[in-house]
Amino acid sequence: MRPKIFVAREIFPEVVERLAVHFEVQSNQADDILSKAQLIDALRGKQGAFTTGGDRIDAEVLAACPDLKICANMAVGYNNFDLPAMTARGVLATNTPDVLTETTADFGFALMMATARRMSESEHFLRAGKWTKWSFDMFAGSDIHGATLGILGMGRIGQGIARRGALGFGMNVIYHNRSRLDAATEAQCKARYVSKEELLRSSDHLVLVLPYSPSAHHAIGAAELAMMKPTATLVNIARGGIVDDAALAQALAQKRIAAAGLDVFEGEPSVHPDLLTVPNVVLTPHIASASVPTRLAMANLAADNLIQFFSTGKALTPLNPEVLGG
Ligand code: DGY
Repeated sequence: MRPKIFVAREIFPEVVERLAVHFEVQSNQADDILSKAQLIDALRGKQGAFTTGGDRIDAEVLAACPDLKICANMAVGYNNFDLPAMTARGVLATNTPDVLTETTADFGFALMMATARRMSESEHFLRAGKWTKWSFDMFAGSDIHGATLGILGMGRIGQGIARRGALGFGMNVIYHNRSRLDAATEAQCKARYVSKEELLRSSDHLVLVLPYSPSAHHAIGAAELAMMKPTATLVNIARGGIVDDAALAQALAQKRIAAAGLDVFEGEPSVHPDLLTVPNVVLTPHIASASVPTRLAMANLAADNLIQFFSTGKALTPLNPEVLGG
């Protein structure tokens, strides 16, 4: 009998078709947002799950769905998984690294540029019919070229942003990370390791690319924002919760930093109401990896993890390979 899988959100129909060659597929192509009870109902009796970053797999779900053997996330981030609980139950978790690195780095860089050069704010002004004359300082922002780019979280995407900044725009790149990169990688990215405090104090443009974990919660709050230059910009393409959004909205309103660009939010898709009213912020709905080819590659990688797991007992990008044994 073919394994049964559940695809928790709408995905590319061709990927559902690929899965249907190997599995008995139940798919949420209606794209309903499922409550935990509905997710449990759908996963009961299934051996595999195709999940996205919004589908929480925790101990309660696992206990209610004892047939589940693998959850393949269509995202590189996996803070929707309770990984220790999955490992304890012998459920394999996989994610989609690498295939989205360059696309996400492109977006982080674009968001930084849009933020520094006030693109959203000026477009709203134009659309509102307020553009009646030229003025010397109209939407004057800050430069990217030659500026100091700070990166918090120097994994694959952080390194991609560093390369763009150093090699493409002549930026002076500094970074902070849990562990320092080896000398060869630092040289490739032309990036210098600094303390978190120096990063906050010296960056003209600070980009957050660190994974979410409880210890990263509010890594940027009022105290950290107070250390930044008043001319600095902050970009978050990492995860909601890494920035204290209320403190950021206040810092933006009081011009304690110049501007921010945010692709991720605490409690998204809700957005802190104060962020919606401050002008000096560029807001996008968690789309950093959303180019068509990259989203397709992510979906196919998640599908390949399921296919490979059920045919060989291995997976391409496992997060807890220890459950696979030998
Ligand atoms: C990721 O891959 O983690 C992106 O944030 C999309 O969810």
